[in-house]
Amino acid sequence: MTKPKAPPGGKRPIKGPAGGARNLSTRLKTAEGRTTSSQRWLNRQLNDPFVLAAQAQGYRSRAAFKLLQIHERYRLLKPGMRVLDLGAAPGGWSQVAAKLVGAGESKGGKVVAVDIQGMAPLGDVEVMLEDFLAEGAETRIKAVLGGQADCVLSDMAEPATGHRQTDHLRIMAMADTAAVFAAEILAPDGFFLCKVLQGGSEKDLLTLLKRAFSSVKHVKPEASRADSAELYVLATGFRGR
Ligand SMILES: C[S@@+](CC[C@H](N)C(=O)[O-])C[C@H]1O[C@@H](n2cnc3c(N)ncnc32)[C@H](O)[C@@H]1O
Repeated sequence: MTKPKAPPGGKRPIKGPAGGARNLSTRLKTAEGRTTSSQRWLNRQLNDPFVLAAQAQGYRSRAAFKLLQIHERYRLLKPGMRVLDLGAAPGGWSQVAAKLVGAGESKGGKVVAVDIQGMAPLGDVEVMLEDFLAEGAETRIKAVLGGQADCVLSDMAEPATGHRQTDHLRIMAMADTAAVFAAEILAPDGFFLCKVLQGGSEKDLLTLLKRAFSSVKHVKPEASRADSAELYVLATGFRGR
């Protein structure tokens, strides 16, 4: 795997699309055999500046820029932290987290990446092939973490059904479960960052988070597509169990 050229979250500004990646409009040579929606998806990928920047900088996904931008703004990840990354594949967030916390025995940080899909090995990141919602998953994750976490990240999302309300309810159920788990494993002052979709049923999640954390806010990084209902909930200052 190619190493990112710029240090994520380092002193230099994030080298996103404005940092020199190609931003040309690329046209597909042929649309034969493609459905309209897959054609639209492919066209968007080929012309997405964050996709191009991720390729140029060696990130496994454009999503890496979402975490980088949130970190840039709130300075969340620090050397030595223990991170649980839920819904980690293909690994963009884990790459960013591993670099910022200094994952690996010699550096003292730790990143555990969990996904229901396989993920290629990633340096000092501990990768778990696991359905987070499966029976016993939380016990297995705790065993790999081997103690408390300073931070729980969740970018988990199932493939979209295209039905807005169904997608919203599914992702909120996942976010609720991740939040309850975060409240079990976080160390005092830890934080929780979780993907949600706007759509009206966030009340339970926000109630739980406001009780357990000193600050709760919504964040929409620039790399999150403006036409998407995607949003991140950031809860900081875990009060402890
Ligand atoms: C948007 S992608 C995550 C991208 C990732 N943050 C990155 O930077 O590369 C969402 C991920 O959630 C995972 N996912 C969905 N349901 C899951 C579950 N029940 N348990 C674990 N992972 C799940 C999917 O397999 C998918 O890889």
